[in-house]
Amino acid sequence: MKAEKGTFVVLASGRGSNFQAILDKAAEGYIPAVCKALITDNPDAYAIERARAAGIPGEVVSFRSFSDKQTYETALIAAIQKYDPDLVVLAGYMRILGSEIVRKYSGRMVNIHPSLLPSFTGLHAQQQAVNYGVKVAGCTVHFVTEDMDAGPVIIQRTVPVFEGDDGDILADRILIEEHKAFPEAIRLFFERRLRIEGRVVKIGNAHSPSPGRDD
Ligand code: GRF
Repeated sequence: MKAEKGTFVVLASGRGSNFQAILDKAAEGYIPAVCKALITDNPDAYAIERARAAGIPGEVVSFRSFSDKQTYETALIAAIQKYDPDLVVLAGYMRILGSEIVRKYSGRMVNIHPSLLPSFTGLHAQQQAVNYGVKVAGCTVHFVTEDMDAGPVIIQRTVPVFEGDDGDILADRILIEEHKAFPEAIRLFFERRLRIEGRVVKIGNAHSPSPGRDD
């Protein structure tokens, strides 16, 4: 008997090019799992169009329509729970999540950040890299923990930084690698090859136990 495919939802706030890369890789079978929904905090996010084109539900949980962060997050958790996903993927989701949601999805929520963490956390990471003068930059896919951009690292990919680069040029170069790194990390998760040991992620063979779920 064939095991049922794993499921994930994607949270994105804007353009959604990572979301698209993930959808494409799931459609071609590289990611052995099904995307159940897009959830966004931004009613104008282009990612909504991408979800529509792919025939995937797009849910808007708009931050502005809630009186405070707590009620917003309660609604966000409810929106995610509706799909009961194995994995929550933050693909350009521009809000810092509170501890309740992060704990609930501990070990099964991943984020992409456009720097080689732990360097250049937070906003405008690519511009930070240019300003600092590093010669190598890149992206990081990591598990989400309560500290921003600080969770266990799954995959990093690098790019060179050239003299004359500005933040936008570097961002475009890094984005190409993001579109490879994120699907690869998600694939590893669904192949059950990621094991979190303290703050280190070990990548095992296809039979390693997964981080598991506890809800
Ligand atoms: C990406 O650079 C991602 O690393 C960062 O936000 C950007 C989102 O781009 N967190 P897109 O919406 O996936 O095109």
